Amino acid sequence: MTEVKKQPMDNLAFDQEGFRMSTPQAIAKYKAERLKCGNIADLGAGIGIQALHFAAYSERVFAVENDPSRLVYLRKNAETMGVHNLEVIEGNALDPKIINMLSGMDAFHSDPSRKRTKETWSFEDLSPNPIDVLKKYKGDNFSFDIPPLFPRGLLQKDWETEYISVSGELKRMSVYVGGAKRYGRNALSLPDGGRIVEDQNLERDVRKRSTPLSWIYDLDESLFYSDLLPEFLEMNPDVSLLHEDRQKTLVTSDKFVEGPFLTKSYSVLESAVDMQDAKNKLSRMKVGKVILRFPMDPTKYYEERRRLEKELEGERTAYLFRFGGMLFIAERVEK
Ligand SMILES: C[S@@+](CC[C@H](N)C(=O)[O-])C[C@H]1O[C@@H](n2cnc3c(N)ncnc32)[C@H](O)[C@@H]1O
Repeated sequence: MTEVKKQPMDNLAFDQEGFRMSTPQAIAKYKAERLKCGNIADLGAGIGIQALHFAAYSERVFAVENDPSRLVYLRKNAETMGVHNLEVIEGNALDPKIINMLSGMDAFHSDPSRKRTKETWSFEDLSPNPIDVLKKYKGDNFSFDIPPLFPRGLLQKDWETEYISVSGELKRMSVYVGGAKRYGRNALSLPDGGRIVEDQNLERDVRKRSTPLSWIYDLDESLFYSDLLPEFLEMNPDVSLLHEDRQKTLVTSDKFVEGPFLTKSYSVLESAVDMQDAKNKLSRMKVGKVILRFPMDPTKYYEERRRLEKELEGERTAYLFRFGGMLFIAERVEK
C-alpha cells in the first residue's frame, strides 16, 4: 500500500471541470478508511482524488473512467503520487466486459457525474446510474456519492444515507447499500468526525426561542438537510433553535457549549431597538466593522453596511442579528 494519506496532494494534474467534480480530500480520506478492503472498484474515477485515497487504504484499486482526457490526468496523478496498486480501466462502467473484469470485488464505489434535467434530481441524471450499477454488478458492498439535495423518497429505506459536510458546509450525500451500510440516516461533520444518527422514536418537535440567550451559534448545514435537528437538540439540552432556513440554521444557549456541529460561536453583548440605537451602542463599544447577519436584499447589503459603519471608528468587529423585531450585537468567539 502506498502512503498517499501522508503526502500533500498539491502536485496533481487536472482540468477545471474534473477538479470541480472531484471529491474533497477530507471526504476522500474518510471514505477510503471506511471502505478499506482487499479489492475496491471506483466506477467513474475522474481525476482520481478518491481512487488515490482508496489506494492508500485498500490493497488494490480498479479505477474505471470513460472520458479519455480525464484518463490522462488519472494516470498522471497515480504516477505523481507513486501509487502502484491502482489499475486504470478505460471505458464505460456499464459495459459487460468491464463488469465481467470486475467480478469478485470486495467493494464498489461510484461518485457519478451529474447533470440535473428537471427541477429535482433523479437517478437518470447520474452517470453511471447507481440503479444500473446495482442491477448489473454482483457484490455485497456498494457506496455512491450522490447530490446532497437528491430526494430522499427515491432512495430505498434500507440504504444508509450519510450527509457529509466539511467545515460546516454540506458537500456530499453518500449512500451505502448491502454490507457497506452501518447506520440509519446520519449527518457527519468533517474534519472533526462528529456524527448524529436518526432516532426513529424521537419526538420531531424542536425546542425553539424567538430571541437569543447569551450565545448564538451557526449550525452545520448537514443537520438541516438530513432533517436531524431534533436528534442534535436531544443531545444538547442547553441549546434551542433560533432560526432555520436553507441558507442558515442558528441556535442559542445560556451557557457556552461546544461540539463539531456548532461551527461558529457568537457572544451576545447588547440588544438595540432600531438601527440608530444599534449605531450608538456600536460606537460606544469601539466597533468599526459590522457584519450583518439578518435576511435582506443582497444587492442592498454593502449600502446598508456602509451606512451603519460611517462614523464608526473602533478596531472591533461585531455581528448584528435581528430576531423578533429587535437587533442583537454579538462578537465572534473562535473555537
Ligand atoms: C464526479 S466525477 C468523479 C470524481 C472523483 N470522485 C474524483 O475524486 O476525482 C465522475 C466521473 O465519472 C465519469 N463517468 C461518467 N459516466 C461514466 C461511465 N458510464 N463509465 C465510466 N466513467 C463514467 C465522468 O467522466 C467523470 O470523470
